[in-house]
Amino acid sequence: MDLKSEIKKRRTFAIISHPDAGKTTLTEKLLLMGGAIQVAGAVKSNKIRKTTTSDFLEIEKQRGISVATSVMTLDYKGAKINILDTPGHKDFAEDTYRTLTAVDSVILVVDSVKGVEEQTRKLMEVCRMRATPVMIFINKLDRVGKDPFDLLEELEEELKIAVCPFTWPIGSGNDFKGVYDINNKNIQLFNPHKGAKTAPILTTDELDNPELLEHIEKSSLEKLWEELELTKDLYEPYNEGLYREGLLAPVFFGSALNNFGIPELFETFIQIAPCPTGIKTNDRIILPEENKLTGFVFKIHANLDPNHRNRLAFFRICSGKFERNKMYFHTRLNKRIRFAAPASFMANSKSLVEEAFPGDVIGLYDNGSLKIGDTLTEGEILQFTGVPSFSPEILREVINKDPLKTKQLEKGVRQLTDEGLAQLFVQQPGNKKIIGTVGELQYDVIKYRLEAEYGAKCDFHSLPFVKACWLSSDNKKEFEKLLQLKSHVIAYDKDDNPVFLAESDWMIRITKETYPSVNFHNTSEFKN
Ligand code: G4P
Repeated sequence: MDLKSEIKKRRTFAIISHPDAGKTTLTEKLLLMGGAIQVAGAVKSNKIRKTTTSDFLEIEKQRGISVATSVMTLDYKGAKINILDTPGHKDFAEDTYRTLTAVDSVILVVDSVKGVEEQTRKLMEVCRMRATPVMIFINKLDRVGKDPFDLLEELEEELKIAVCPFTWPIGSGNDFKGVYDINNKNIQLFNPHKGAKTAPILTTDELDNPELLEHIEKSSLEKLWEELELTKDLYEPYNEGLYREGLLAPVFFGSALNNFGIPELFETFIQIAPCPTGIKTNDRIILPEENKLTGFVFKIHANLDPNHRNRLAFFRICSGKFERNKMYFHTRLNKRIRFAAPASFMANSKSLVEEAFPGDVIGLYDNGSLKIGDTLTEGEILQFTGVPSFSPEILREVINKDPLKTKQLEKGVRQLTDEGLAQLFVQQPGNKKIIGTVGELQYDVIKYRLEAEYGAKCDFHSLPFVKACWLSSDNKKEFEKLLQLKSHVIAYDKDDNPVFLAESDWMIRITKETYPSVNFHNTSEFKN
């Protein structure tokens, strides 16, 4: 098959949600539908359930599981589906944000009882930033949830995206009767006792059909009809262009647990979700059908086997064909590199891959030369953009507890932060190391892993900062002045870019007023 046909077949996406909305359940149902797994329960939720006291063994176990379930590939009706898994726990949100840089679209799961939640909002911000096409699945219709009109209004207002319902629910909770498929004009009946079996489809839009009335009361059908009329006035008609630009989200209702409403979602997804398209680099847009290989690393799992210190780098192919044992160019290190045992992922197992195409994610074993954001090409010097670091919310100083192990600590901190577990900032004088995260749990993980994998002991000293902003300015003199006069709140990131450590948003505003030519950015990638 030629490159273009391979690209057209691929759908690379992530399922995202606030924890507990049903991401894992939906993923599993998609894998079951695609035949990638045979039994329910095969996909383990990779969330760390114990949130108050972190359980290290659990974390270790989860690391193992999340390697296997990080990418799930399946073939469905001629399409090659790559599902990129994201951690369920909010403290690992940064990992999720980075994974979103490697997908072509997302399915966002919203709990119909809870509506839009904190993590839903944050994830959508990242999607908006990258103009990622979004489809929304409103889950748990078997429970008494919010009114569908209220839910859609909440989505539009809070997620700042226009919505277009593709299905419409008939009742909820105990009165949940099914969904009306607006485009195909049919009703799919809900029968919770039939479990994963697809309910019968009655192809009619005549709502006094006696066959329908056997299942649904006339008053419910009349209500449905009225609601459908209203939807026509209230929501944008579907427009592929707007969906592809991330401005309009098709919405589906259902119940993942009951495998209900999922075929409609998945079939539509395959039809309209984008295959790999052009991706920005610092220099030009790379088109997937270009013959030469390009791609980037968006995630790293380190020290999979403590005896070998190997790492698995997750590499997203953006153009051309990847071939095992071929020499590729590592643009950051300016060196050639070859991979003898690249891995592809199939549901929850890995296997050796000979070749891979745009949209695919493969695992590259390496002993430390690959970092998050690294680009591989066939010789061209370029760097993919859009794999930024995000401002951390908690910042703490690393305190070495065993002076004899200073080197190990240094190495461990560097490697674990290269892996993307947290961000490292260095402050002068004194080479002070500051670790920034979005959640408490990472500090426990880092402390535990430094000791288990590097034999180093440390403590973390709380700092009063709640944000780290990257800085830029066209006014060199004023910029230098700020860096000098505010050196107590300036640190440098892994690429030696200055960041401003802020105690509050107010502090940023005040500093900005004093140095009007300096820009403060929430991510490490910005345009002035
Ligand atoms: P997550 O990955 O987004 O965190 O959510 P997950 O799929 O683990 O689902 C969270 C909980 O919601 C699970 O229950 C799951 O069974 C339930 N759930 C998912 N879809 C539906 C649905 O359509 N209807 C209802 N009523 N519940 C649903 P749990 O008790 O936390 O876990 P488990 O013991 O069932 O695994």
